[in-house]
Amino acid sequence: MSTAISPTAYNYKVVRQFAIMTVVWGILGMGLGVFIASQLVWPELNFDLPWTTFGRLRPLHTNLVIFAFGGCALFATSYYVVQRTCQTRLISDGLAAFTFWGWQAVIVGAIITLPMGFTTTKEYAELEWPLAILLAIVWVTYGIVFFGTIVKRKTKHIYVGNWFYGAFIVVTAMLHIVNHASLPVSFFKSYSAYAGATDAMIQWWYGHNAVGFFLTTGFLGMMYYFVPKQAERPIYSYRLSIVHFWALITLYIWAGPHHLHYTALPDWAQSLGMAMSIILLAPSWGGMINGMMTLSGAWHKLRTDPILRFLVVSLAFYGMSTFEGPMMAIKTVNSLSHYTDWTIGHVHAGALGWVAMISIGALYHMIPKLYGRAQMHSTSLINTHFWLATIGTVLYIASMWVNGITQGLMWRAINDDGTLTYSFVEALQASHPGFIVRALGGAFFASGMLFMAYNVWRTVRASNPVEAEAATKIAVVGAH
Ligand code: HEM
Ligand code: HEM
Repeated sequence: MSTAISPTAYNYKVVRQFAIMTVVWGILGMGLGVFIASQLVWPELNFDLPWTTFGRLRPLHTNLVIFAFGGCALFATSYYVVQRTCQTRLISDGLAAFTFWGWQAVIVGAIITLPMGFTTTKEYAELEWPLAILLAIVWVTYGIVFFGTIVKRKTKHIYVGNWFYGAFIVVTAMLHIVNHASLPVSFFKSYSAYAGATDAMIQWWYGHNAVGFFLTTGFLGMMYYFVPKQAERPIYSYRLSIVHFWALITLYIWAGPHHLHYTALPDWAQSLGMAMSIILLAPSWGGMINGMMTLSGAWHKLRTDPILRFLVVSLAFYGMSTFEGPMMAIKTVNSLSHYTDWTIGHVHAGALGWVAMISIGALYHMIPKLYGRAQMHSTSLINTHFWLATIGTVLYIASMWVNGITQGLMWRAINDDGTLTYSFVEALQASHPGFIVRALGGAFFASGMLFMAYNVWRTVRASNPVEAEAATKIAVVGAH
Protein backbone atom coordinates (compact mmCIF):
# COMPACT_ATOMS: atom_id res chain seq x y z
CA MET A 1 0.00 0.00 0.00
CA SER A 2 1.53 3.30 -1.06
CA THR A 3 1.42 6.40 1.05
CA ALA A 4 0.52 9.74 -0.51
CA ILE A 5 1.25 13.05 1.18
CA SER A 6 -1.72 15.37 1.44
CA PRO A 7 -1.22 19.12 0.89
CA THR A 8 -2.93 19.81 4.22
CA ALA A 9 -1.09 19.35 7.47
CA TYR A 10 -1.85 18.57 11.09
CA ASN A 11 -1.98 21.43 13.55
CA TYR A 12 1.06 20.50 15.63
CA LYS A 13 1.64 24.02 16.92
CA VAL A 14 -0.96 23.74 19.67
CA VAL A 15 0.16 20.18 20.47
CA ARG A 16 3.76 21.37 20.85
CA GLN A 17 2.67 24.26 23.08
CA PHE A 18 0.66 22.03 25.39
CA ALA A 19 3.43 19.38 25.41
CA ILE A 20 6.11 21.86 26.48
CA MET A 21 3.85 23.37 29.14
CA THR A 22 3.17 19.88 30.52
CA VAL A 23 6.87 19.64 31.37
CA VAL A 24 7.00 23.17 32.79
CA TRP A 25 3.91 22.74 35.00
CA GLY A 26 5.05 19.24 35.97
CA ILE A 27 8.27 20.68 37.39
CA LEU A 28 6.46 23.49 39.22
CA GLY A 29 3.60 21.35 40.55
CA MET A 30 5.80 18.50 41.70
CA GLY A 31 8.42 20.92 43.04
CA LEU A 32 5.65 22.46 45.12
CA GLY A 33 4.64 18.92 46.20
CA VAL A 34 8.17 18.39 47.50
CA PHE A 35 7.98 21.74 49.27
CA ILE A 36 4.70 21.00 51.07
CA ALA A 37 5.97 17.49 51.89
CA SER A 38 9.02 19.21 53.45
CA GLN A 39 6.75 21.54 55.43
CA LEU A 40 5.29 18.46 57.08
CA VAL A 41 8.84 17.44 58.06
CA TRP A 42 10.10 20.93 58.99
CA PRO A 43 7.14 23.17 59.93
CA GLU A 44 9.50 26.21 59.97
CA LEU A 45 9.14 26.18 56.18
CA ASN A 46 5.70 27.74 56.60
CA PHE A 47 7.70 30.97 57.22
CA ASP A 48 4.88 32.38 59.40
CA LEU A 49 3.43 34.09 56.32
CA PRO A 50 -0.22 33.48 55.39
CA TRP A 51 0.45 32.87 51.69
CA THR A 52 3.24 30.35 52.25
CA THR A 53 1.39 28.14 54.74
CA PHE A 54 0.68 24.49 54.00
CA GLY A 55 -3.07 25.21 53.98
CA ARG A 56 -2.78 27.62 51.05
CA LEU A 57 -0.04 25.86 49.09
CA ARG A 58 -1.63 22.41 49.26
CA PRO A 59 -4.58 23.35 46.99
CA LEU A 60 -2.12 25.11 44.68
CA HIS A 61 -0.17 21.83 44.45
CA THR A 62 -3.30 19.84 43.60
CA ASN A 63 -4.43 22.41 41.02
CA LEU A 64 -1.01 22.56 39.39
CA VAL A 65 -0.45 18.81 39.14
CA ILE A 66 -4.00 17.86 38.18
CA PHE A 67 -5.14 20.73 35.97
CA ALA A 68 -1.88 22.29 34.80
CA PHE A 69 0.38 19.22 34.40
CA GLY A 70 -2.32 16.56 33.85
CA GLY A 71 -4.58 18.94 31.91
CA CYS A 72 -1.86 20.06 29.48
CA ALA A 73 -0.85 16.41 28.93
CA LEU A 74 -4.47 15.58 28.10
CA PHE A 75 -4.90 18.55 25.76
CA ALA A 76 -1.61 17.80 23.99
CA THR A 77 -2.19 14.09 23.51
CA SER A 78 -5.91 14.35 22.66
CA TYR A 79 -5.22 16.96 19.95
CA TYR A 80 -2.42 14.75 18.60
CA VAL A 81 -4.41 11.52 18.73
CA VAL A 82 -7.65 12.91 17.33
CA GLN A 83 -5.85 14.41 14.30
CA ARG A 84 -3.81 11.31 13.55
CA THR A 85 -6.58 8.75 14.04
CA CYS A 86 -9.07 10.87 12.08
CA GLN A 87 -6.40 11.77 9.45
CA THR A 88 -7.48 15.37 9.43
CA ARG A 89 -6.47 18.77 10.80
CA LEU A 90 -8.14 20.20 13.93
CA ILE A 91 -11.38 21.89 12.95
CA SER A 92 -10.18 25.38 13.91
CA ASP A 93 -6.69 26.74 14.59
CA GLY A 94 -8.14 29.84 16.23
CA LEU A 95 -10.31 27.94 18.70
CA ALA A 96 -7.45 25.54 19.46
CA ALA A 97 -5.16 28.50 20.20
CA PHE A 98 -7.87 29.96 22.43
CA THR A 99 -7.96 26.73 24.47
CA PHE A 100 -4.19 26.94 24.94
CA TRP A 101 -4.05 30.55 26.08
CA GLY A 102 -7.29 30.32 28.03
CA TRP A 103 -6.07 27.26 29.91
CA GLN A 104 -2.75 28.93 30.76
CA ALA A 105 -4.68 32.01 31.98
CA VAL A 106 -6.75 29.84 34.34
CA ILE A 107 -3.54 28.30 35.73
CA VAL A 108 -1.88 31.67 36.24
CA GLY A 109 -5.10 32.82 37.93
CA ALA A 110 -4.83 29.84 40.30
CA ILE A 111 -1.19 30.64 41.08
CA ILE A 112 -2.18 34.18 42.05
CA THR A 113 -5.49 33.63 43.86
CA LEU A 114 -4.94 30.43 45.85
CA PRO A 115 -1.93 31.62 47.90
CA MET A 116 -3.89 34.83 48.56
CA GLY A 117 -6.56 32.70 50.20
CA PHE A 118 -9.37 33.12 47.65
CA THR A 119 -11.12 29.76 47.56
CA THR A 120 -14.56 28.19 47.32
CA THR A 121 -13.23 25.64 49.90
CA LYS A 122 -14.43 22.74 47.72
CA GLU A 123 -11.55 20.33 47.12
CA TYR A 124 -10.29 20.26 43.49
CA ALA A 125 -12.90 22.98 42.73
CA GLU A 126 -11.27 25.78 44.73
CA LEU A 127 -11.11 28.40 41.99
CA GLU A 128 -13.50 31.29 42.61
CA TRP A 129 -16.29 32.07 40.18
CA PRO A 130 -14.53 34.39 37.64
CA LEU A 131 -11.86 31.75 37.02
CA ALA A 132 -14.42 28.95 37.13
CA ILE A 133 -16.43 30.68 34.38
CA LEU A 134 -13.30 31.16 32.24
CA LEU A 135 -12.50 27.48 32.76
CA ALA A 136 -16.01 26.48 31.65
CA ILE A 137 -15.71 28.60 28.47
CA VAL A 138 -12.30 27.10 27.62
CA TRP A 139 -13.64 23.61 28.27
CA VAL A 140 -16.68 23.99 26.04
CA THR A 141 -14.38 25.33 23.28
CA TYR A 142 -12.17 22.27 23.78
CA GLY A 143 -15.25 20.09 23.26
CA ILE A 144 -16.09 21.97 20.03
CA VAL A 145 -12.54 21.53 18.68
CA PHE A 146 -12.35 17.85 19.63
CA PHE A 147 -15.79 16.73 18.47
CA GLY A 148 -15.70 19.04 15.44
CA THR A 149 -12.51 17.29 14.34
CA ILE A 150 -14.15 13.90 14.82
CA VAL A 151 -17.09 14.99 12.69
CA LYS A 152 -14.83 15.96 9.75
CA ARG A 153 -12.70 12.81 10.05
CA LYS A 154 -11.41 11.07 6.88
CA THR A 155 -11.53 7.62 8.46
CA LYS A 156 -14.67 5.51 8.69
CA HIS A 157 -14.70 4.54 12.33
CA ILE A 158 -13.83 6.42 15.51
CA TYR A 159 -10.78 4.90 17.21
CA VAL A 160 -11.48 3.76 20.78
CA GLY A 161 -8.94 6.18 22.28
CA ASN A 162 -11.18 9.02 21.09
CA TRP A 163 -14.18 7.50 22.87
CA PHE A 164 -12.29 7.75 26.13
CA TYR A 165 -11.09 11.30 25.44
CA GLY A 166 -14.63 12.25 24.38
CA ALA A 167 -16.24 10.90 27.57
CA PHE A 168 -13.59 12.69 29.65
CA ILE A 169 -14.39 16.01 27.94
CA VAL A 170 -18.19 15.69 28.20
CA VAL A 171 -18.30 14.47 31.81
CA THR A 172 -15.71 17.00 33.05
CA ALA A 173 -17.87 19.81 31.63
CA MET A 174 -20.94 18.41 33.37
CA LEU A 175 -19.17 17.96 36.72
CA HIS A 176 -17.54 21.37 36.69
CA ILE A 177 -20.69 23.29 35.76
CA VAL A 178 -23.01 21.50 38.22
CA ASN A 179 -20.61 21.53 41.19
CA HIS A 180 -19.67 25.16 40.66
CA ALA A 181 -23.27 26.47 40.75
CA SER A 182 -22.97 29.24 43.35
CA LEU A 183 -24.00 32.69 44.39
CA PRO A 184 -21.25 35.32 44.06
CA VAL A 185 -21.27 37.89 46.86
CA SER A 186 -18.17 39.76 45.69
CA PHE A 187 -15.58 39.47 42.95
CA PHE A 188 -13.61 36.89 44.95
CA LYS A 189 -16.23 35.20 47.08
CA SER A 190 -19.18 32.97 46.24
CA TYR A 191 -21.32 30.52 48.18
CA SER A 192 -22.40 27.12 46.92
CA ALA A 193 -25.93 26.80 45.58
CA TYR A 194 -26.33 23.63 47.65
CA ALA A 195 -26.38 23.18 51.41
CA GLY A 196 -25.48 20.56 54.01
CA ALA A 197 -25.36 16.88 53.05
CA THR A 198 -26.57 17.71 49.51
CA ASP A 199 -23.58 20.01 49.04
CA ALA A 200 -21.25 17.29 50.32
CA MET A 201 -22.79 14.70 48.00
CA ILE A 202 -22.55 16.95 44.94
CA GLN A 203 -18.98 17.88 45.85
CA TRP A 204 -17.92 14.20 46.06
CA TRP A 205 -19.92 13.25 43.01
CA TYR A 206 -17.67 15.88 41.39
CA GLY A 207 -14.52 14.89 43.31
CA HIS A 208 -14.72 11.21 42.64
CA ASN A 209 -15.58 11.66 39.00
CA ALA A 210 -12.76 14.18 38.63
CA VAL A 211 -10.66 11.13 39.54
CA GLY A 212 -12.76 8.84 37.35
CA PHE A 213 -12.99 10.99 34.25
CA PHE A 214 -10.15 13.52 34.46
CA LEU A 215 -7.45 11.34 36.07
CA THR A 216 -8.60 8.00 34.63
CA THR A 217 -10.76 8.07 31.49
CA GLY A 218 -8.69 10.76 29.76
CA PHE A 219 -5.47 8.90 30.52
CA LEU A 220 -7.01 5.65 29.30
CA GLY A 221 -7.53 7.43 25.98
CA MET A 222 -3.80 8.10 26.07
CA MET A 223 -3.12 4.45 26.94
CA TYR A 224 -5.17 3.12 24.00
CA TYR A 225 -3.10 5.13 21.53
CA PHE A 226 0.43 5.25 22.92
CA VAL A 227 0.81 1.70 24.29
CA PRO A 228 0.06 -0.01 20.94
CA LYS A 229 2.11 2.63 19.10
CA GLN A 230 5.20 2.28 21.26
CA ALA A 231 4.91 -1.53 21.43
CA GLU A 232 4.25 -1.63 17.65
CA ARG A 233 1.47 -4.12 18.27
CA PRO A 234 -2.30 -3.79 17.75
CA ILE A 235 -4.39 -3.41 20.88
CA TYR A 236 -4.87 -6.85 22.47
CA SER A 237 -8.66 -6.91 22.18
CA TYR A 238 -10.73 -4.26 20.46
CA ARG A 239 -13.91 -5.93 21.75
CA LEU A 240 -12.64 -5.74 25.33
CA SER A 241 -11.86 -2.07 24.84
CA ILE A 242 -15.52 -1.37 23.96
CA VAL A 243 -16.81 -3.38 26.95
CA HIS A 244 -14.20 -1.62 29.08
CA PHE A 245 -15.43 1.79 27.92
CA TRP A 246 -19.14 1.29 28.59
CA ALA A 247 -18.65 -0.55 31.88
CA LEU A 248 -16.21 2.06 33.20
CA ILE A 249 -18.30 5.12 32.43
CA THR A 250 -21.51 3.47 33.64
CA LEU A 251 -20.06 2.50 37.01
CA TYR A 252 -17.75 5.38 37.94
CA ILE A 253 -20.55 7.92 38.25
CA TRP A 254 -22.14 6.02 41.21
CA ALA A 255 -19.08 5.57 43.41
CA GLY A 256 -18.76 9.11 44.89
CA PRO A 257 -20.36 8.34 48.28
CA HIS A 258 -17.34 6.23 49.30
CA HIS A 259 -15.74 9.61 50.16
CA LEU A 260 -18.50 10.22 52.70
CA HIS A 261 -18.60 7.00 54.73
CA TYR A 262 -19.83 7.46 58.31
CA THR A 263 -21.05 11.00 57.63
CA ALA A 264 -24.54 12.56 57.62
CA LEU A 265 -25.10 11.14 54.12
CA PRO A 266 -27.95 8.56 54.25
CA ASP A 267 -26.61 5.09 54.98
CA TRP A 268 -28.16 3.54 51.87
CA ALA A 269 -26.23 6.01 49.68
CA GLN A 270 -22.95 5.08 51.41
CA SER A 271 -23.64 1.36 50.88
CA LEU A 272 -24.57 1.95 47.23
CA GLY A 273 -21.30 3.85 46.71
CA MET A 274 -19.39 1.02 48.35
CA ALA A 275 -21.06 -1.66 46.19
CA MET A 276 -20.46 0.29 42.97
CA SER A 277 -16.81 0.86 43.93
CA ILE A 278 -16.24 -2.85 44.41
CA ILE A 279 -17.81 -3.66 41.03
CA LEU A 280 -15.57 -0.97 39.50
CA LEU A 281 -12.62 -3.27 40.00
CA ALA A 282 -13.79 -5.34 37.01
CA PRO A 283 -13.70 -2.72 34.23
CA SER A 284 -10.58 -1.13 35.72
CA TRP A 285 -8.70 -4.38 35.56
CA GLY A 286 -10.25 -5.21 32.18
CA GLY A 287 -8.64 -2.06 30.81
CA MET A 288 -5.35 -2.65 32.58
CA ILE A 289 -5.16 -6.22 31.23
CA ASN A 290 -6.04 -5.02 27.72
CA GLY A 291 -3.11 -2.61 27.87
CA MET A 292 -0.68 -5.11 29.36
CA MET A 293 -1.60 -7.91 26.94
CA THR A 294 -0.94 -5.58 24.02
CA LEU A 295 2.69 -6.33 24.76
CA SER A 296 2.20 -10.02 23.90
CA GLY A 297 5.13 -10.89 21.69
CA ALA A 298 6.81 -7.55 22.46
CA TRP A 299 7.86 -8.05 26.08
CA HIS A 300 11.51 -8.27 25.01
CA LYS A 301 11.31 -4.61 23.96
CA LEU A 302 11.16 -3.65 27.63
CA ARG A 303 14.84 -4.52 27.89
CA THR A 304 15.86 -1.74 25.55
CA ASP A 305 12.98 0.72 25.46
CA PRO A 306 12.57 2.93 28.56
CA ILE A 307 9.55 4.70 27.00
CA LEU A 308 7.68 1.40 26.87
CA ARG A 309 8.80 0.78 30.45
CA PHE A 310 7.16 4.04 31.54
CA LEU A 311 3.92 3.00 29.83
CA VAL A 312 3.87 -0.55 31.22
CA VAL A 313 4.81 0.41 34.77
CA SER A 314 2.08 3.06 34.68
CA LEU A 315 -0.41 0.30 33.88
CA ALA A 316 0.92 -1.76 36.79
CA PHE A 317 0.34 1.18 39.15
CA TYR A 318 -3.08 1.72 37.60
CA GLY A 319 -3.93 -1.90 38.39
CA MET A 320 -2.58 -1.52 41.90
CA SER A 321 -4.44 1.68 42.74
CA THR A 322 -7.72 0.40 41.27
CA PHE A 323 -7.41 -2.70 43.46
CA GLU A 324 -6.62 -0.61 46.53
CA GLY A 325 -9.48 1.88 45.87
CA PRO A 326 -12.30 -0.72 45.95
CA MET A 327 -10.78 -2.21 49.12
CA MET A 328 -10.69 1.24 50.78
CA ALA A 329 -14.32 1.77 49.73
CA ILE A 330 -15.42 -1.13 51.98
CA LYS A 331 -16.84 0.63 55.03
CA THR A 332 -14.94 -1.41 57.63
CA VAL A 333 -11.61 -0.84 55.81
CA ASN A 334 -12.46 2.85 55.35
CA SER A 335 -13.04 3.24 59.10
CA LEU A 336 -9.30 2.56 59.43
CA SER A 337 -7.97 4.32 56.33
CA HIS A 338 -10.11 7.48 56.24
CA TYR A 339 -8.35 10.73 57.29
CA THR A 340 -4.99 8.91 57.38
CA ASP A 341 -1.95 8.97 55.11
CA TRP A 342 -3.17 5.72 53.56
CA THR A 343 -5.51 7.87 51.42
CA ILE A 344 -2.56 10.10 50.46
CA GLY A 345 -0.56 6.99 49.49
CA HIS A 346 -3.47 5.72 47.38
CA VAL A 347 -3.81 9.12 45.70
CA HIS A 348 -0.14 9.20 44.68
CA ALA A 349 -0.07 5.55 43.58
CA GLY A 350 -2.62 6.76 41.04
CA ALA A 351 -1.18 10.24 40.52
CA LEU A 352 2.54 9.50 40.26
CA GLY A 353 2.46 5.83 39.24
CA TRP A 354 -0.39 6.04 36.76
CA VAL A 355 -1.19 9.61 35.66
CA ALA A 356 2.32 11.06 35.66
CA MET A 357 4.10 7.98 34.29
CA ILE A 358 1.72 7.40 31.38
CA SER A 359 1.93 11.12 30.51
CA ILE A 360 5.72 11.07 30.62
CA GLY A 361 5.82 7.95 28.42
CA ALA A 362 3.37 9.51 25.94
CA LEU A 363 5.40 12.75 25.80
CA TYR A 364 8.67 10.91 25.14
CA HIS A 365 6.93 9.10 22.27
CA MET A 366 5.30 12.23 20.87
CA ILE A 367 7.87 15.02 21.22
CA PRO A 368 10.40 13.77 18.62
CA LYS A 369 7.51 13.24 16.16
CA LEU A 370 6.23 16.76 16.75
CA TYR A 371 9.64 18.21 15.91
CA GLY A 372 10.51 15.91 13.02
CA ARG A 373 13.23 14.01 14.91
CA ALA A 374 13.71 10.24 14.83
CA GLN A 375 14.00 10.00 18.60
CA MET A 376 14.65 11.89 21.82
CA HIS A 377 18.10 13.41 22.30
CA SER A 378 19.15 10.80 24.87
CA THR A 379 17.68 7.36 25.60
CA SER A 380 19.91 6.86 28.62
CA LEU A 381 18.49 10.02 30.20
CA ILE A 382 14.99 8.60 29.69
CA ASN A 383 16.20 5.49 31.47
CA THR A 384 17.56 7.56 34.37
CA HIS A 385 14.24 9.36 34.54
CA PHE A 386 12.39 6.04 34.58
CA TRP A 387 14.31 4.77 37.61
CA LEU A 388 14.01 8.05 39.51
CA ALA A 389 10.24 8.04 38.90
CA THR A 390 9.77 4.39 39.84
CA ILE A 391 11.89 4.51 43.00
CA GLY A 392 10.30 7.86 43.95
CA THR A 393 6.78 6.46 43.60
CA VAL A 394 7.59 3.34 45.63
CA LEU A 395 9.19 5.37 48.45
CA TYR A 396 6.17 7.70 48.47
CA ILE A 397 3.44 5.08 48.63
CA ALA A 398 5.23 2.60 50.93
CA SER A 399 5.91 5.32 53.53
CA MET A 400 2.28 6.44 53.37
CA TRP A 401 0.98 2.88 53.86
CA VAL A 402 3.11 2.52 56.98
CA ASN A 403 2.03 5.95 58.24
CA GLY A 404 -1.64 5.41 57.39
CA ILE A 405 -1.99 2.09 59.16
CA THR A 406 0.02 3.37 62.14
CA GLN A 407 -2.21 6.45 62.42
CA GLY A 408 -5.44 4.46 62.00
CA LEU A 409 -4.46 1.93 64.65
CA MET A 410 -3.14 4.53 67.11
CA TRP A 411 -6.26 6.70 66.78
CA ARG A 412 -8.61 3.80 67.52
CA ALA A 413 -6.57 2.20 70.36
CA ILE A 414 -8.59 2.39 73.60
CA ASN A 415 -7.64 1.56 77.21
CA ASP A 416 -9.76 -0.66 79.46
CA ASP A 417 -11.38 2.40 81.03
CA GLY A 418 -12.48 3.69 77.61
CA THR A 419 -9.94 6.51 77.30
CA LEU A 420 -7.71 6.92 74.23
CA THR A 421 -4.34 5.15 74.48
CA TYR A 422 -2.53 7.74 72.35
CA SER A 423 -2.88 11.47 71.94
CA PHE A 424 -3.04 12.92 68.41
CA VAL A 425 0.46 14.35 68.83
CA GLU A 426 1.88 10.90 69.61
CA ALA A 427 0.45 9.60 66.32
CA LEU A 428 1.95 12.61 64.58
CA GLN A 429 5.38 11.92 66.11
CA ALA A 430 5.14 8.30 64.94
CA SER A 431 4.44 9.60 61.41
CA HIS A 432 7.52 11.80 61.22
CA PRO A 433 9.93 9.19 59.74
CA GLY A 434 7.35 8.42 57.05
CA PHE A 435 7.09 12.12 56.20
CA ILE A 436 10.87 12.21 55.65
CA VAL A 437 10.79 9.17 53.34
CA ARG A 438 7.85 10.67 51.40
CA ALA A 439 9.69 13.96 50.89
CA LEU A 440 12.71 11.99 49.66
CA GLY A 441 10.57 9.92 47.27
CA GLY A 442 8.96 13.12 45.98
CA ALA A 443 12.38 14.68 45.44
CA PHE A 444 13.40 11.61 43.38
CA PHE A 445 10.30 11.93 41.25
CA ALA A 446 10.58 15.69 40.76
CA SER A 447 14.30 15.53 39.91
CA GLY A 448 13.45 13.06 37.14
CA MET A 449 11.36 15.82 35.60
CA LEU A 450 14.46 18.02 35.38
CA PHE A 451 16.23 15.34 33.33
CA MET A 452 13.16 15.29 31.12
CA ALA A 453 13.23 19.06 30.67
CA TYR A 454 16.88 18.94 29.58
CA ASN A 455 16.24 16.04 27.20
CA VAL A 456 13.22 17.80 25.66
CA TRP A 457 15.15 21.05 25.29
CA ARG A 458 18.01 19.27 23.47
CA THR A 459 15.56 17.44 21.20
CA VAL A 460 13.70 20.63 20.29
CA ARG A 461 16.94 22.55 19.77
CA ALA A 462 18.23 19.88 17.38
CA SER A 463 15.15 20.23 15.18
CA ASN A 464 15.15 22.70 12.28
CA PRO A 465 12.01 24.47 10.97
CA VAL A 466 12.00 22.50 7.70
CA GLU A 467 12.05 19.14 9.53
CA ALA A 468 9.43 20.33 11.97
CA GLU A 469 7.17 21.53 9.14
CA ALA A 470 7.60 18.28 7.18
CA ALA A 471 6.52 16.31 10.27
CA THR A 472 3.05 17.88 10.15
CA LYS A 473 2.18 16.58 6.67
CA ILE A 474 -0.66 14.07 6.63
CA ALA A 475 0.11 10.66 5.18
CA VAL A 476 -3.25 9.86 3.59
CA VAL A 477 -2.91 6.13 3.04
CA GLY A 478 -1.30 3.67 5.43
CA ALA A 479 -1.21 3.42 9.21
CA HIS A 480 -1.98 6.52 11.27
C1 HEM B 1 6.97 15.05 43.39
C2 HEM B 1 5.80 14.65 43.43
C3 HEM B 1 4.75 14.95 44.49
C4 HEM B 1 4.88 15.22 45.83
C5 HEM B 1 6.14 15.27 46.67
C6 HEM B 1 3.55 15.42 46.35
C7 HEM B 1 3.26 15.75 47.68
C8 HEM B 1 2.00 15.96 48.19
C9 HEM B 1 1.69 16.29 49.56
C10 HEM B 1 2.73 16.49 50.66
C11 HEM B 1 0.34 16.39 49.67
C12 HEM B 1 -0.44 16.73 50.93
C13 HEM B 1 -0.65 15.50 51.75
C14 HEM B 1 -1.33 15.75 53.06
O1 HEM B 1 -2.22 16.63 53.15
O2 HEM B 1 -0.99 15.09 54.04
C15 HEM B 1 -0.22 16.10 48.39
C16 HEM B 1 -1.57 16.05 48.11
C17 HEM B 1 -2.09 15.71 46.87
N1 HEM B 1 -1.38 15.50 45.70
FE1 HEM B 1 0.62 15.39 45.52
N2 HEM B 1 2.66 15.27 45.33
C18 HEM B 1 3.35 14.99 44.18
C19 HEM B 1 2.82 14.78 42.92
C20 HEM B 1 1.47 14.74 42.62
C21 HEM B 1 0.92 14.51 41.31
C22 HEM B 1 1.72 14.29 40.02
C23 HEM B 1 -0.45 14.53 41.46
C24 HEM B 1 -1.56 14.35 40.43
C25 HEM B 1 -1.41 14.08 39.17
C26 HEM B 1 -0.73 14.79 42.86
C27 HEM B 1 -2.01 14.90 43.40
C28 HEM B 1 -2.28 15.19 44.72
C29 HEM B 1 -3.63 15.20 45.26
C30 HEM B 1 -4.92 14.90 44.49
C31 HEM B 1 -3.51 15.52 46.62
C32 HEM B 1 -4.64 15.66 47.64
C33 HEM B 1 -4.90 14.31 48.28
C34 HEM B 1 -6.07 14.23 49.23
O3 HEM B 1 -6.66 15.27 49.56
O4 HEM B 1 -6.43 13.13 49.67
N3 HEM B 1 0.45 14.93 43.53
N4 HEM B 1 0.81 15.85 47.49
C1 HEM C 1 -11.60 1.48 41.03
C2 HEM C 1 -10.97 2.57 41.21
C3 HEM C 1 -10.90 3.36 42.49
C4 HEM C 1 -11.69 3.31 43.61
C5 HEM C 1 -12.91 2.44 43.89
C6 HEM C 1 -11.17 4.29 44.54
C7 HEM C 1 -11.64 4.49 45.82
C8 HEM C 1 -11.17 5.44 46.70
C9 HEM C 1 -11.51 5.55 48.11
C10 HEM C 1 -12.41 4.59 48.87
C11 HEM C 1 -10.89 6.64 48.59
C12 HEM C 1 -10.86 7.13 50.05
C13 HEM C 1 -11.96 8.04 50.39
C14 HEM C 1 -11.80 8.52 51.80
O1 HEM C 1 -11.67 7.71 52.71
O2 HEM C 1 -11.82 9.75 52.00
C15 HEM C 1 -10.18 7.25 47.50
C16 HEM C 1 -9.51 8.43 47.57
C17 HEM C 1 -8.90 9.03 46.47
N1 HEM C 1 -8.62 8.42 45.27
FE1 HEM C 1 -9.27 6.64 44.68
N2 HEM C 1 -10.10 4.92 43.97
C18 HEM C 1 -9.90 4.39 42.72
C19 HEM C 1 -8.92 4.74 41.83
C20 HEM C 1 -8.20 5.90 41.90
C21 HEM C 1 -7.24 6.36 40.92
C22 HEM C 1 -6.83 5.58 39.67
C23 HEM C 1 -6.83 7.60 41.33
C24 HEM C 1 -5.86 8.57 40.71
C25 HEM C 1 -5.51 8.63 39.53
C26 HEM C 1 -7.51 7.91 42.57
C27 HEM C 1 -7.43 9.10 43.24
C28 HEM C 1 -7.98 9.33 44.48
C29 HEM C 1 -7.91 10.61 45.14
C30 HEM C 1 -7.29 11.91 44.59
C31 HEM C 1 -8.48 10.42 46.42
C32 HEM C 1 -8.53 11.43 47.55
C33 HEM C 1 -9.76 12.25 47.53
C34 HEM C 1 -9.72 13.22 48.68
O3 HEM C 1 -10.11 12.86 49.80
O4 HEM C 1 -9.27 14.34 48.46
N3 HEM C 1 -8.31 6.85 42.89
N4 HEM C 1 -10.35 6.49 46.36
